[in-house]
Amino acid sequence: MRTGKEGIRAIATTVRRGQRYTEANRALAARTAKQLDIPNVPRGNDSLEELRAAYGADAVLVARRGVLTLVTAEGELFFHPGMAHLRMKNLLLGHGDHLVSALGLVEGMNVLDCTLGTGADAIVESFAVGEQGAVTALESNPLIAAVIADGLAHATGDNYEMHAAMRRIVVHHADALTFLRTAETDSCDVIYFDPMFRRPLHESAGMNALRALADMRALTEETIAEARRVARCRVVMKERRGSAEFDRLGFDTIMGGKYSRIAYGVMKL
Ligand SMILES: C[S@@+](CC[C@H](N)C(=O)[O-])C[C@H]1O[C@@H](n2cnc3c(N)ncnc32)[C@H](O)[C@@H]1O
Repeated sequence: MRTGKEGIRAIATTVRRGQRYTEANRALAARTAKQLDIPNVPRGNDSLEELRAAYGADAVLVARRGVLTLVTAEGELFFHPGMAHLRMKNLLLGHGDHLVSALGLVEGMNVLDCTLGTGADAIVESFAVGEQGAVTALESNPLIAAVIADGLAHATGDNYEMHAAMRRIVVHHADALTFLRTAETDSCDVIYFDPMFRRPLHESAGMNALRALADMRALTEETIAEARRVARCRVVMKERRGSAEFDRLGFDTIMGGKYSRIAYGVMKL
C-alpha cells in the first residue's frame, strides 16, 4: 500500500519494548495502520532499518510512549508544540502575536487552518479563540495528519492552557481546495494558509523532517477564491517577506514583524 506523497510506502509498528506503554503502543499502531490502510508490523527484535528493508517501506510510523513518531531516511517527525508555548505566554502577558493579529483573532471565533503541518500555529489559534471558539485544521499528507492529530489528541501539553488548546483542535486529512469546495458560504470567520515556502528558509530543523513528506504545491487562485467565499472576515497567508506570492494571489495588506523574514498577507472581506 502506497500512501502520502506519490511513491511513499509506510508501515506501522511499536518500539521494541514499551514497558508500561506496551498495550497502549500496540493499540495505537493497530489503530493507525487500520486508519491509513497500511501494514501493522509486529516489531519483535528488528531494527527499524531491518523492518524498512523487509517491507520495502520508506516511512515507519512507530508507536512510542503512547504517541506516534514517523521515521524516514530524512529524519523523524513527531508532535512537538515548538514555539507555541512562548507565543501563548506572550499573549497572556499582553505582548501579542503576529499571526493572531494578522488573523484578527478574538475569543469565540471560528478558524479554518488549511495547512496544519506541525500544529504549532493551530495551537496558538486555538488558545486565542478559547473555549467558545473553534479551530478546524486540514492536512493533505495522511502521514503528517496522523502523527500531528495523534499528538494533539494524546500528548501532554506544557501546561493546562496548552493542553486544553491542543485537545480542542479538530484535524481532517484533506486537501484545502477539496475541503473548501464543499464548505458552506460564510461558514467560518477566518481562513489561514501557511503553504511550504516557494524558496525555503534553511533555518528550522523541525521543518526538514516535515519537508520530506509535505505537500509542496503552491496555492491556486481558485483556492483563494473559495476561501474568500467560505470566510466571513479574513483570509491570511504566511510567506517569505517580499514573496511574489502575495501579489500573485491578491493579498493587498502585509503584516508581521518589521525585521522578520516572514510576513502575513491579509485580505479583509
Ligand atoms: C509550512 S507547513 C505548515 C506549518 C504550520 N503552520 C505549523 O505551525 O507547523 C505546510 C503544511 O501544509 C500542508 N499542505 C500544503 N498544501 C496543502 C493543501 N493544499 N491542503 C492541505 N494541506 C496542505 C503540507 O503538507 C505541510 O504539512
